[in-house]
Amino acid sequence: MTSIPPQTPRIPDGALLNNRYRITGFLGLGGHAAVYAAVDTLIERDVAVKVLYLLSEDNTSPEHHSRLERFRAEARLAAKIRHPAVVTIFDMGTIDQLGFPFIVMEHLAGHDLRAELRANGPLHPERALRIIKPCLDALHAGHEQDVVHRDLKPANIFLLHPGTDREEVRILDFGIARALHSDARLTGAGQLLGTPRYLAPEYIREHRVTPALDIYQSGLILAELLLGAPVLTSPDAMECIIRHTQGNLGIAPWLLDSPWGPLIQRATARRPADRFPSALEFRRALDALDPKLLPAPPAPTAPLPDPGADHSIQITVTEEDTPKRAANRPHRLDATTQLPPQPLPRPRHHLALAAAAVAALALIAAALAWLLSLR
Ligand SMILES: Nc1ncnc2c1ncn2[C@@H]1O[C@H](COP(=O)(O)OP(=O)(O)O)[C@@H](O)[C@H]1O
Ligand SMILES: [Mg+2]
Repeated sequence: MTSIPPQTPRIPDGALLNNRYRITGFLGLGGHAAVYAAVDTLIERDVAVKVLYLLSEDNTSPEHHSRLERFRAEARLAAKIRHPAVVTIFDMGTIDQLGFPFIVMEHLAGHDLRAELRANGPLHPERALRIIKPCLDALHAGHEQDVVHRDLKPANIFLLHPGTDREEVRILDFGIARALHSDARLTGAGQLLGTPRYLAPEYIREHRVTPALDIYQSGLILAELLLGAPVLTSPDAMECIIRHTQGNLGIAPWLLDSPWGPLIQRATARRPADRFPSALEFRRALDALDPKLLPAPPAPTAPLPDPGADHSIQITVTEEDTPKRAANRPHRLDATTQLPPQPLPRPRHHLALAAAAVAALALIAAALAWLLSLR
């Protein structure tokens, strides 16, 4: 689990990056990076600048190298998919004063799906369809380019103009996306990258990355839109991993018994071969549903559990099957930096969940050893 190093600078408003991008505000924090609002002063357009946290002072370490490579791959892979529901990438580089790598992309007005679900609970079935279908189309476009996203979850799907008749979606964060047939060393053997609630069983057991992985995660997201909460609510990463590998998702019976049920079950089948053969086929099956027959979710009898953080994590299983934590020493600013450091705002529950995730890592390694021994 990546936590924000205490000395990671918050880039202040007004800072001019590389003589071109003027920071105007702070937009969000993910598992890997901080995202800022900015103006591209050269062509006078609003943009978002995503800046990777650098965790290690040892910039020769393999871990440092693979984080940098993944960040660069993120920009390249997202730019490769030309689809209106994929965030548009404009530029990438390294901040002159700080040495932090950044990506410049379209500035999206709105909030991510996770924030939407937290604020407003389950989505109306027709709205859930309007949101998931363009995502599946975009994923299919990616799969045709051999790009698998791998980290689909509500926090990585953005809603523009949410709740209005101009609502649109954009898939974000190709941070751990994989170009099929690419150099797999970006995720070394023994490393699992992703978010425990959304890890596909074949990825956990065999590190297998195919379009079926994105279909599995899309099925979980569709169920989550209708339930108003993640399918797996446990904050315990090991429990999530075991339930994925056992095919024991425990989706609410009212949903499984509705016309949604067979589609969600097929998308989230344990065996990739039992899922829809493509994201396009999943989308077509949704097209065939009659929205009028789709049930609205029952009113919750108790408040929905707070699903907590769902940041991407990196679990490294060493040869001895013991967990190795990512080097997490804070990056120190060079004394000559012109950007005064300020603490980054921390997302709610971040610290408590970071601690829980660290504690869970030891258990996860044991569970992985056990699961892999079943192969
Ligand atoms: N282009 C954008 N415009 C507006 N907000 C964004 C944009 N990109 C990301 N964000 C916000 O920042 C958060 C973190 O971005 P993300 O790309 O998911 O980072 P990470 O790779 O660290 O998870 C997102 O959940 C979203 O709320
Ligand atoms: Mg993210």
